[in-house]
Amino acid sequence: MQRLTQVIGSNLRHPRGPMGRLTARLMRQGNASLNLWMVERLAVKPRDRVLEVGFGPGVVLAELLIRVPDGIVVGVDASELMVRQARSRHAADITAGRLELRQGDAGSLSDSDESFDVVCGTHVIYFWPDPVATVRELGRVLRPGGTLALAYQERDRMPGRAALGLSQAGARLFGPGEVENVVRAAGFVDIRTEFQSTPDGPAGFCVLAMASAG
Ligand SMILES: C[S@@+](CC[C@H](N)C(=O)[O-])C[C@H]1O[C@@H](n2cnc3c(N)ncnc32)[C@H](O)[C@@H]1O
Repeated sequence: MQRLTQVIGSNLRHPRGPMGRLTARLMRQGNASLNLWMVERLAVKPRDRVLEVGFGPGVVLAELLIRVPDGIVVGVDASELMVRQARSRHAADITAGRLELRQGDAGSLSDSDESFDVVCGTHVIYFWPDPVATVRELGRVLRPGGTLALAYQERDRMPGRAALGLSQAGARLFGPGEVENVVRAAGFVDIRTEFQSTPDGPAGFCVLAMASAG
């Protein structure tokens, strides 16, 4: 059982091979609610340029393509498998020039400064070796006044097996206020945390912040 938890943790971090495919299917269902709730908080406009980092099975990408009919959506994910799956799912949007998908690291983006109005990511901050440096990189590609949204679950509210698997995969889990602290240290302003309320308590959190003018 411990081995299975470890394999799931490493595929949450970097989906690959048959277990990556299975983990992606589980994430697609299990994370859909938090992902859609996060998109609602973004207030994207039809012509916006939006970046999602760590898109995984692509629930947010699909929703952004509906909400940004005249803009552009860019997705960057470390996993070659996730990029391949999303490319095949959204081939028509890529051909139409509405969607660009790349394999890469959120901490080292190839985009020019101030390329985006909105940058977002769900359940991905856990995997950044230097979260402040990576969030600073997200700030670099956001226009001044642009919106950052990072959705996640707090350490003590995660299902035990997920928390254990993630820890075994070298992920860093965050406690109350810690993601806000990262975002503040990276130079963002107007920072706030919202939580997705359920009868069992917060099902997830989202730190929202504005890229400062300089
Ligand atoms: C736990 S999954 C979450 C996927 C999706 N956001 C969701 O909520 O269902 C984390 C995703 O982030 C990707 N990832 C991990 N580290 C990354 C990094 N440094 N830069 C970009 N993507 C990364 C993984 O490949 C994986 O697809």
